[in-house]
Amino acid sequence: MALWGGRFTQGPDQRFKDFNDSLKFDYRMAIEDIDGSVGWAKALCEVGVLTEKECADLQQALKDLKEEVSKDLHAVAVAGDEDIHSYVERRLIEKVGDLGKKLHTGRSRNDQVALDLKLWCRGAVDEILKAINHLQLTLLDCAKRHEGDIFPGYTHLQRAQPVTFSHFLMAYAQMFERDYARLENARELMNVCPLGSAALAGTAYKIDREELAKSLGFSGPTRNSLDAVSDRDHVLELLSCASISMIHLSRFAEDLIIYNSGEANFIELSDKVTSGSSLMPQKKNPDALELIRGKCGRVVGALSGMLVTVKALPLAYDKDLQEDKERLFDAIDTWHDCLYMAALVLEDLKLNKTNAIKAAKGGYSNATELADYLVSKGVPFREAHSIVGRTVLYAIQKGKALEDLSVDEFEQFNNVIGGDVYEALELSNIIKKRDVIGGVAFNQTTAEIEALTAKVKAR
Ligand code: ARG
Repeated sequence: MALWGGRFTQGPDQRFKDFNDSLKFDYRMAIEDIDGSVGWAKALCEVGVLTEKECADLQQALKDLKEEVSKDLHAVAVAGDEDIHSYVERRLIEKVGDLGKKLHTGRSRNDQVALDLKLWCRGAVDEILKAINHLQLTLLDCAKRHEGDIFPGYTHLQRAQPVTFSHFLMAYAQMFERDYARLENARELMNVCPLGSAALAGTAYKIDREELAKSLGFSGPTRNSLDAVSDRDHVLELLSCASISMIHLSRFAEDLIIYNSGEANFIELSDKVTSGSSLMPQKKNPDALELIRGKCGRVVGALSGMLVTVKALPLAYDKDLQEDKERLFDAIDTWHDCLYMAALVLEDLKLNKTNAIKAAKGGYSNATELADYLVSKGVPFREAHSIVGRTVLYAIQKGKALEDLSVDEFEQFNNVIGGDVYEALELSNIIKKRDVIGGVAFNQTTAEIEALTAKVKAR
């Protein structure tokens, strides 16, 4: 049963119906559509469109329907109705007869779909916040296990200065913390209720929209009906949050893929998150991480697609907006899965400490420290930089590390260098010296782990 048809003399072409119908994907908003309808019934009752008894009957039927639908959401998808709003209304009429036909008074599918989608997004945000929290706890746990473990730090993928594996992990914990905050902001901004905007001009019934918004858990009602039915900023914002977070996840995946390569061999991924080759028996491929990296494209694609859909769209509601859902649902599902998959990868990840230290020691990553050592002996930094550059060149030619040069060799470059240079060049001393907020010093990383763990656990 369609929600319209009176002014038509012909039914829709089946090909158009297949093209136009959205139930096959918007069935995912069934619960939200029912919840919104419960709120609307109450609002109609308060303005006298429904009697208390009618309202109670409708609400009971909606409650029953919600229970049925919750048991098998997928069955809704194939029920054949035009969209989720048509489905819920038809089922309601089947349950309570003509009374069901009163529920749509003063409401349009335009404010209804805007409401349903906001409710869906709100629920999705809450699920993603949980997923980020889970990843954070897993990251923090792993960082705690590796507090003292020295690891090579890179810029330009060239060894730069030693860090710790813990400090590396905490860099990502900071990124996911911003993703969390960004999502909380988005939730607050979207939490305004469009119901009561009707088709585009506002409902003709004297609905208390403040009260209605409150009953549905919103901070208040939207302030312009044209905007309310055509606004999909919250979808764009959620997709932006998803894209930024997926970019963080893809960088994380890429770093681990590099560290897991045979050439680096700093970490070993568990059998649980890797797969083999059908031809090459020796292979153990980092598929989980590669998929996280690859799925980033899908989420960013959803964002750019949605931006183009909304661009230059005239006010108010246009059917183009129906294109918001599939990619939003897919992007949120993908993001959610990737957050949990990243956590799973971390759970059993092994650090090859010997290889990591060996790499951290190589590549002259203590050269900056030698320059700082010269500065401590009164040499201006720019001069020290050049002296150390020449010393490194000499060491490369000799095939030696800086700490393998003798004091005599050092003295060729500057005579302030004495026997205390070896202690300064020691990796753990280099790390300990970066003792500023956010620095790599062991105690600083520990403090950050503790602070963030307390914050994550408290929410
Ligand atoms: N399926 C539609 C959507 O997702 C619902 C709103 C339809 N409104 C309308 N006036 N045809 O946007």
